[in-house]
Amino acid sequence: MPHRPYVIDEMISAKAIAARIEALAQQIKQAFAGTEKLVVVGLLRGSFVFIADLVRELDMNVEVDFLEASSYGDGMESSREVRILKDLRGEIGGRDVLVVEDIVDTGFTLKHVVGLLKSREPRRLETIALLDKPSRREVDIKATWTGFEIPDEFVVGYGIDFAQRNRNLPYIGKVRFTEPEQA
Ligand code: IMP
Repeated sequence: MPHRPYVIDEMISAKAIAARIEALAQQIKQAFAGTEKLVVVGLLRGSFVFIADLVRELDMNVEVDFLEASSYGDGMESSREVRILKDLRGEIGGRDVLVVEDIVDTGFTLKHVVGLLKSREPRRLETIALLDKPSRREVDIKATWTGFEIPDEFVVGYGIDFAQRNRNLPYIGKVRFTEPEQA
């Protein structure tokens, strides 16, 4: 199906993202100072670039694991029903865990994942989201650390997609349609 034409306007530069990640990594290192090995859990697929940059700023012992939850499908709207498509490889019971999310939008995904992982009784579980759209929230959840709060815009880049496009942009941009929606 041909897609509705759009352009991408830069919203957060690659440089601004890198600087913010450096600062967040300092806070995370302090918070987990006594941790022997931190389990860093990336939520696929959107967090793959963020987690790669974040762990390289964390000079401490980390184990990287991934979990895939579905909520958006191929569109621009959250389905509100979260399914686990790929579970963790490792055990997290008694461990210190950091969940890495790309965007918190309605909040359904993060809330569901946090509930699931807490049921496995980690010693400590914290969350980090690169982006947060607080005006879109439908459930009560906030990440422990947030990179940037953004308005209600559909964004792409730095791992984040629109119907599987644009994940490879080095910056965060907002999608602007150039033609009116077909009736
Ligand atoms: P939530 O469950 O509504 O909080 O949605 C979270 C997920 O929806 C994120 O992990 C993203 O994969 C996706 N998402 C939310 N907002 C956007 C956006 O602006 N662009 C692309 N994906 C988004």
